[in-house]
Amino acid sequence: MASKKMKIPTTIDLGDQTRTAMVGLLQANLADGIDLVYQLKQAHWTVRGPNFIGFHELLDQLHEQVEDKVDLTAERIAVLGGQAEGTVDVSAQTSRLPKYPLDAVKIEDHVAAVTKSLAAYAENVRKAIDEASEAGDEGTADLFTEISRAADRARWFVEAHKVAA
Ligand SMILES: [Fe+2]
Repeated sequence: MASKKMKIPTTIDLGDQTRTAMVGLLQANLADGIDLVYQLKQAHWTVRGPNFIGFHELLDQLHEQVEDKVDLTAERIAVLGGQAEGTVDVSAQTSRLPKYPLDAVKIEDHVAAVTKSLAAYAENVRKAIDEASEAGDEGTADLFTEISRAADRARWFVEAHKVAA
């Protein structure tokens, strides 16, 4: 887990307590994001059926978007004087996302699984916006807001594959 003490010197004008709390929030999001990055690839690689190419390509676009957010999250940890723990191993141990079904093949099964994971990801990010804002770190709150907006949009893109009732 992320070290609880800020050991890396920084001149940033945020208190040690705030930075420690923010690094914890960011580290949790980093672990989820790294998990999501490869859940999206799992879907990209295994989906089959009608509308294959559109969904296959969408998954790759979403993968790149989440990967970009993962980078911003890890770099924000560094900005705050923390030490990111960005390995797949740490992600596997601490991700809060549901496990991706390895037997999913049909588009509807992938739509359901990706939606479930995006929902867990997005809900945790939305909570983190408020926590960062309440802690007085608007920079981190803004990053979480950016991630949240992208996650909501990704959710729409995936959910729009479901036929409306
Ligand atoms: Fe590919």
